Amino acid sequence: MDLENIPNHVGIIMDGNGRWAKKRGLNRSLGHKKGAETLEKLLNHIYDLGIKYVSIYAFSTENFKRDPKEVNYLMDLFVKMFSSKKKIFVKNELKVLFSGRRDNLRDDVRKSLENLEDSTKDFSRGVLNICLNYGGRSEIVDMTKKIAQDVIDGKLKIDDIDEKLVNHYMYQDLPDIDFVIRTSGEMRISNFMLWQSSYAEYFFPKTLFPDFTEEEFNKAILEYQNRNRRFGG
Ligand code: IPE
Ligand code: IPE
Ligand code: MG
Repeated sequence: MDLENIPNHVGIIMDGNGRWAKKRGLNRSLGHKKGAETLEKLLNHIYDLGIKYVSIYAFSTENFKRDPKEVNYLMDLFVKMFSSKKKIFVKNELKVLFSGRRDNLRDDVRKSLENLEDSTKDFSRGVLNICLNYGGRSEIVDMTKKIAQDVIDGKLKIDDIDEKLVNHYMYQDLPDIDFVIRTSGEMRISNFMLWQSSYAEYFFPKTLFPDFTEEEFNKAILEYQNRNRRFGG
């Protein structure tokens, strides 16, 4: 692989856990558990390639419409993962960020995420942005409110508002996403990073997320490297 032309920021919509479990006659929860294991291996590989930023879609604002049993299982899994994997993030010097609405999140989930953010805030080998209770539209609404408040408070003038400033008022001030991968064959973005992905390349492998290996990720990167990005020019 040509490591010169790798994306700086990759977004991953980890889809297909439920179908993976169903195919095996298992409960959906086991698909999520297997998906979490897949993610851990994948992240090791991704940062080894020298990719700096990864945004993962862990739970959308719309996912609260699911059966409360599944939602609770996922929230428990997040808490377990965030606390048990903290030492791995620290060892690998990865900074963890959280994008999403914090106010209506279960207390233990928010606390474990904020603890992870706090314990890794000085690292810079790579950045993992976890989108949880995240929606691209709610992010834009929340950004608008923060800007409006600062204008009212006299901290900002209307003429200060430009693309750079808007980016700064998003949940996290991140570089643009270069490449979005959505597993499981669904060809939609389901409210993921709308602002940040304006000029991203998209790739929709059919593989269900729990089966998405490092080799498949490499194939996706090759696909990215064959795209001709023009940015309107
Ligand atoms: C993605 O897998 C994980 C989350 C949305 C949390 P799904 O749970 O959406 O799996 P499918 O799409 O039903 O197969
Ligand atoms: C998108 O997947 C959200 C995550 C992967 C966390 P969904 O499975 O929720 O999306 P839809 O319902 O198929 O659009
Ligand atoms: Mg799905």
